[in-house]
Amino acid sequence: MSEDYKDEYILDIIENQHYTTHTILSSLLTVQDDIGYLPKNSINVVAEFMDVSINDVWGVASFYLNFRFDPPGKFNLEICWGPSCHIGGASELQQTALKKLKLENQGDTDDGKFTLKFNTCLGACPQAPLISIDHKLYGKMNSKKFSKIMDELI
Ligand code: FES
Repeated sequence: MSEDYKDEYILDIIENQHYTTHTILSSLLTVQDDIGYLPKNSINVVAEFMDVSINDVWGVASFYLNFRFDPPGKFNLEICWGPSCHIGGASELQQTALKKLKLENQGDTDDGKFTLKFNTCLGACPQAPLISIDHKLYGKMNSKKFSKIMDELI
């Protein structure tokens, strides 16, 4: 269930974005970084701020798969399955996560507690295999350590 964010709140986020060049993309990224997703009215607010049409904003928002339109789970769990992590055993970590979260693929758990994503590179390949929880990286991961972390969060 999405929460309501007032237009003024979203506009404030956009006006104070840290990007020096304000674009549709930078504005959408700023809103998602702050709120965790793009509430419906954020499309309109970005359109007004950028002086473009709602279709222009929607075109950008719907193009990038990383934008989401409903609230994420309480914990944002990412498992890297890029080449280095794959060689290091990412498949096992993926299977562990899916089993523990009772998911068939990446996505949100029914209880809204987790959002699971498979990432193509978390940018720290020498530490492979890697996971991240709420954007904090955990490297040199193995199934045993990962299971313990998951059990503490579930
Ligand atoms: S491939 Fe996993 S961090 Fe780069």
